[in-house]
Amino acid sequence: MKVLVTGGAGFIGSNLVDRLLAEGHQVVVVDNLSTGKRENLNPAARFYEMDIQDPQLAEVFARERPEVVNHHAAQMDVRRAVEDPVFDARVNVLGLINVLENCVRNQVRKVIFISSGGAVYGEPERLPADENHPIRPITPYGITKYTGEKYCYFYRVVHQLDYTVLRYGNVYGPRQDPHGEAGVVAIFLGTLARGETPTVFRYPDGEMERDYVFVGDVVEANLAALTRGSGAELNIGTGRGTSVSELLAAVQRTMGTDIEPRYGAARPGEIRQTYLSIERAERLLGWRPKTNLEQGLWETAEWFRQRAA
Ligand SMILES: NC(=O)c1ccc[n+]([C@@H]2O[C@H](COP(=O)([O-])OP(=O)(O)OC[C@H]3O[C@@H](n4cnc5c(N)ncnc54)[C@H](O)[C@@H]3O)[C@@H](O)[C@H]2O)c1
Repeated sequence: MKVLVTGGAGFIGSNLVDRLLAEGHQVVVVDNLSTGKRENLNPAARFYEMDIQDPQLAEVFARERPEVVNHHAAQMDVRRAVEDPVFDARVNVLGLINVLENCVRNQVRKVIFISSGGAVYGEPERLPADENHPIRPITPYGITKYTGEKYCYFYRVVHQLDYTVLRYGNVYGPRQDPHGEAGVVAIFLGTLARGETPTVFRYPDGEMERDYVFVGDVVEANLAALTRGSGAELNIGTGRGTSVSELLAAVQRTMGTDIEPRYGAARPGEIRQTYLSIERAERLLGWRPKTNLEQGLWETAEWFRQRAA
């Protein structure tokens, strides 16, 4: 089928584009290269360098007529969202509405919208957080992601545009950037490769814990969502929490290093402990993650090594 991937030059989007092409799908990419990279672009996909808010997006849709739109483009820097919530809302809400309006005008069958399981629940009151957990985002980014979900619901009810929402945990893997939500994996890999001392940020009463999910598994969930998970919000994670120290120990094993970390105080206002229940995705997508942390870190480290060489 023909799939238009917004954000297809980014970390996760570009991994998805490669896999869609390998499966024989036709792929169109819309990306403004704000954080995405030209080198991530698969030459077999048709590329439009464009902002998702651009009125000219209408021409791309009219020319390409995709069957499915996979929406990965976003302002996803949580700190920037706090400093400039207007910019965050422009990209994540107005940009999305522009995409959805074009979907309706061009009879797109389905949109796959990428949300964040690490952001929409706030500090979870029960773990693992399932999709029925109260929604209490504590950042503008979490608010705009959840708003995006509600727009998808509206377009389905009123315009019969089908959707699946995928709420990711902390995605890591090849092409990841140290600045993203799961940036700590890239930061540790870089720090240890240079032989420098890593820093573990923690709260007085304990460490942060996150659900680290490998990008290859996330891509498989997107493939399943082409035909399944209609009208559903689905967590995409591993169901397991990993503390920063556990993560660092795993990265050290991968790198063959044993450097004593220094400890620093975690910034207030960040979520302390979160991991996601993935039962609903297992049931509705027939999906489950296949890559454990050791394997995923090994593949990620391999990619960083090759790029450095
Ligand atoms: N990385 C994670 O752990 C994680 C977790 C939860 C959700 N997500 C979501 O997954 C998606 C992809 O994230 P990523 O980690 O690959 O980040 P990324 O920054 O690598 O990818 C985002 C892509 O969108 C593009 N983009 C940004 N604003 C745009 C705009 N206005 N118009 C067109 N293109 C634009 C960027 O150039 C980039 O290629 C985002 O929606 C993000 O919110 C990521």
